[in-house]
Amino acid sequence: MGESIWSCFICFLSNIDAVFFSVLDEYDGSGEVSIGLSNATENKVCNHAKGKWVPDNRRSLYSGSECKQWLSEMWACRLTQRTDFAYERLRWQPKDCQMEEFEGSKFLRRMQHKTLAFVGDSLGRQQFQSLMCMITAGKETHDVEDVGKEYGLILSEGAVRPDGWAYRFLSTNTTILYYWSAVLCDIEPINVNDPGTEYAMHLDRPPAFLRQFLHKFNVLVLNTGHHWNRGKLQANRWIMHVGGVPNTDKKIAVVGGAKNLTVHSVVSWVSSQLLEYPSLKVFFRTISPRHFVGGDWNTGGSCNSTTPMSVGKVLDEESTDKVVANAVKGTRVKILDITALSQLRDEGHISHFSISAKPGVQDCLHWCLPGIPDTWNEILFTQI
Ligand SMILES: *[C@@H]1O[C@H](CO)[C@@H](O)[C@H](O)[C@H]1NC(C)=O
Ligand SMILES: *[C@@H]1O[C@H](CO)[C@@H](O)[C@H](O)[C@H]1NC(C)=O
Ligand SMILES: *[C@@H]1O[C@H](CO)[C@@H](O)[C@H](O)[C@H]1NC(C)=O
Ligand SMILES: *[C@@H]1O[C@H](CO)[C@@H](O)[C@H](O)[C@H]1NC(C)=O
Repeated sequence: MGESIWSCFICFLSNIDAVFFSVLDEYDGSGEVSIGLSNATENKVCNHAKGKWVPDNRRSLYSGSECKQWLSEMWACRLTQRTDFAYERLRWQPKDCQMEEFEGSKFLRRMQHKTLAFVGDSLGRQQFQSLMCMITAGKETHDVEDVGKEYGLILSEGAVRPDGWAYRFLSTNTTILYYWSAVLCDIEPINVNDPGTEYAMHLDRPPAFLRQFLHKFNVLVLNTGHHWNRGKLQANRWIMHVGGVPNTDKKIAVVGGAKNLTVHSVVSWVSSQLLEYPSLKVFFRTISPRHFVGGDWNTGGSCNSTTPMSVGKVLDEESTDKVVANAVKGTRVKILDITALSQLRDEGHISHFSISAKPGVQDCLHWCLPGIPDTWNEILFTQI
């Protein structure tokens, strides 16, 4: 896929949402978690990334016609022209264990007096909205207070939206927040007095937001991926910096090399912080797959399927996101490994029902909600 082309898929969405997003995704350093302390046979290591999709007609974590409090209209496929909803009726069945049933009240109890932060691109924002809907079952609630101000998440002058959102469930004093950081590194204007300034993109320095607020988090979910392309970097006037000075290393000048450096840097920085905050759990969500067929986003690419390509197909492989998998190896950062299981769900995208895309342009990147990101959160839930 052409980098510049892809970059502009994001540009084109950006008037609504997209300038905003890029993501990182992952889960558990070992990819493994132990479950069910009560029964020795169940108390074995379970890798939730391995398993299969199975039909489940009772499934309903929340309704896509509801949850208007948290769910962006552009992602609520129930509110679009789409008429097939079979994609809502599949459940992820891990191979070696039962998936713990998600319950909002249980989640809140587990997270009492705690804060969960998503930091990443628009796919991270999808996961954030999904979780808010899952916790509330999509029902209006007055139990939630907007605490964005505590994290500097306010609408600044001339901005279309704040850099994120933070909400607190008062009943359990649980805070859920999302911060937009498309590339998970620090971005700094080179000349603050120049409105047309270029920006230093400090590949080896974590976003200022993370440095400022990490101590307040109990669970952190990082992701990045779809903003790493030359066109996007140029459009944003981002200049790669390493060690505080413009990059001269040819291996890093290649976008893939830059991304690899940043992913490794942020993981290594967060991992070092874990010594100071031993109760903090950090997950890196692996990349969310896109499904353009017969072209790219701007050359007629589509994702029209209404039946998943592989119900029942058993996934039993190592992570397909090598960058993240390598970065977390040997650290205490966990991988939230959703790439391969999401790859099987080509029918779950917004497709041609996008209300924000131009006619003829499909969104085979973002997902309908309810949908696949709910499963990412179910897996996350089993590990916090
Ligand atoms: C543990 O679980 C297995 C399978 O679910 C069951 O056959 C077994 O009886 C259980 N053992 C105990 C001690 O509960
Ligand atoms: C809410 O939780 C925070 C820790 O996350 C704690 O500092 C604060 O005192 C709690 N507030 C109440 C009202 O319990
Ligand atoms: C990614 O970065 C790590 C750490 O700097 C390095 O060891 C590895 O070789 C890099 N991988 C690629 C594919 O560049
Ligand atoms: C997908 O749907 C669009 C719009 O309905 C149509 O123009 C396109 O030809 C379809 N693509 C495929 C591969 O069927």
